[in-house]
Amino acid sequence: MAKICVIGSSSMDLVVTSSRRPGAGETVLGESFKTVPGGKGANQAVAAARLGAEVYMIGRVGEDTFGTDILNNFEANGVNTQNVKPVTHLESGTAHIILAEGDNSIVVVEAANREVTPAYVDEAVDVIRNADIVLIQQEIPEETVVHVSALCAKFGTPLLLNPAPARMISQEVIDNASYITPNEHEAEILFQGVSPAESLRQYPNKLFITEGSKGVRYFDGEQEVLVPTYQVKAVDTTGAGDTFNAAFAVALAEGKPLQDSIRFANRAASLSVTKFGAQGGMPTRAEVEESL
Ligand code: RIB
Repeated sequence: MAKICVIGSSSMDLVVTSSRRPGAGETVLGESFKTVPGGKGANQAVAAARLGAEVYMIGRVGEDTFGTDILNNFEANGVNTQNVKPVTHLESGTAHIILAEGDNSIVVVEAANREVTPAYVDEAVDVIRNADIVLIQQEIPEETVVHVSALCAKFGTPLLLNPAPARMISQEVIDNASYITPNEHEAEILFQGVSPAESLRQYPNKLFITEGSKGVRYFDGEQEVLVPTYQVKAVDTTGAGDTFNAAFAVALAEGKPLQDSIRFANRAASLSVTKFGAQGGMPTRAEVEESL
């Protein structure tokens, strides 16, 4: 069984659906409101666990009802929460999501996720050392991403960096990561002034640009490859990227070839968008395999 360590955010998603999103200074009437577990780190941990991996989450929650719900949700999905410790002085992270016009807009309040610090990660250093792969995103402090990348390089543990939400990252982090998976917008910010084709060439078999419903593009050392995704009727695209990253990590940790890993991840991500909520549609291993 693949052993996956996820270091990242755990939040509660507060989701409003509306026929259209309001402009600045405008009020519109919404259709529904739901509270569901989210946060990029937690989403990736849950997705990997549903796909059959042994998952260790390193994260933080507040000492509040959202924190309790987040922990219960991890446990219901079989994610190890030994390193998800409550923070007393901050609330749990929240993501404020508007689902309108076929897409989402999100404001994230990091709160307790800000306490996923380098020192906190060091308390769980053995989990990183013993993992088959580490998955990290950017809803936690930048210095933690830098620190984890150095630890992974030191231990020889492969690191999959999902650079979302977008921010600049240092060359050191790029060098330490084994796999980097920006979407098109994040790639523009990471590699400013360099065309996507050039950046892919610069990082063969390492940089994977996700292009939504088109698929995933990378350079295999000889040519650019686009692995197309599966066309489905999307209900809610929130968490599709998280499902892709988790499934990609699981497949790589199991030793699947690169293209097969991307296909597996594309299939998992396409299934995830067919239900409401970031984690609502995340498939089980059997569901992905049956549909491949
Ligand atoms: O990637 C989707 C996630 O981003 C949501 O669950 C929300 O928590 C935001 O952080």
